[in-house]
Amino acid sequence: MSQENKKNPQVLLIDTLHPSFISILEAAGCTCIPGYNWRIEEILTKINQYDGLAIRSRFKLDQHFLERASTIKCIGRAGAGMENIDVDFAQSVGITCVHAPEGNRDAVGEHAIGMLLSLMNHLIRADQEVRSGIWRREENRGLELQGKTVGIIGFGNMGSAFAKKLQGFECTILAYDKYIRLDHQKYPFVKQCEQKEIFDQADIVSLHLPLTEETRYLVNEDYLESFKKPIFIINTARGKIVDTAALVNALKANKIRGAALDVLEYESISFEQLNATQLPEPFQYLIKSDKVILSPHIGGWTHESNEKIAQVLAEKMLQVFNH
Ligand code: 3PG
Repeated sequence: MSQENKKNPQVLLIDTLHPSFISILEAAGCTCIPGYNWRIEEILTKINQYDGLAIRSRFKLDQHFLERASTIKCIGRAGAGMENIDVDFAQSVGITCVHAPEGNRDAVGEHAIGMLLSLMNHLIRADQEVRSGIWRREENRGLELQGKTVGIIGFGNMGSAFAKKLQGFECTILAYDKYIRLDHQKYPFVKQCEQKEIFDQADIVSLHLPLTEETRYLVNEDYLESFKKPIFIINTARGKIVDTAALVNALKANKIRGAALDVLEYESISFEQLNATQLPEPFQYLIKSDKVILSPHIGGWTHESNEKIAQVLAEKMLQVFNH
């Protein structure tokens, strides 16, 4: 710790993290306070006793919350998505927000590959059929990734990790990112292009965008109509980037050949449950369709990523305290 920060930082944890988070911080002289089950009212009354806060996605840290966090220097989001934190406002009141996408990008990349291969080779359906004594070969003939064009939307930590995993499948990889200039030395196997090129050429599209006002329901009817070929679509990013009703219409119209969805617009903000008890019609369609593979927001959720997220986050928070 630098001289001015000789007082050991007190870090409140309001979500559970891998134990290495606490080990790293405590080895560096911080004190970690477990507030895993604290309700928001309790956190609000005590928040200005701490220097740091670690959260996954249990609460929304909005302006109202941040105004009360007057002693907080750093908020660590144990994961990638920051949509539950008003980062701009936090910055304006002197709070540095850090996250740990480096910790779960490989998990997301592998999960997306797994879903895509399962979808293109009918693995879920074929498995269910064999278990019920049905042996259909022709109907379950698959498609190869080799020779296909994969469009990656968003080339940050997740999109670039997915691109790396695609190497070796001998497909063409296109990436569209409005804000990132692709490093050609690092990714010679990826071509950065405009969205239009992906609309024109893609056979497969994978979404790797954060949820912002700009990306909310980006994938709507118009977007899906713009593809020249029928596509496979993968969403391991955020459910609300896709208008599910439009997706279902495109599936019905065979504009979409298959959808791999690890996230759904119907998730609660903590991602711990589906929001409605009576899930809407598009969801009812998805769960009956054998052109769809679903998983419960576990793309970045491996044993390894759990630990890597904790380590990356602890190191980043220490950097802020030491600054
Ligand atoms: C992320 O943004 O890191 C993942 O979507 C997982 O989020 P969670 O850790 O809040 O469930």
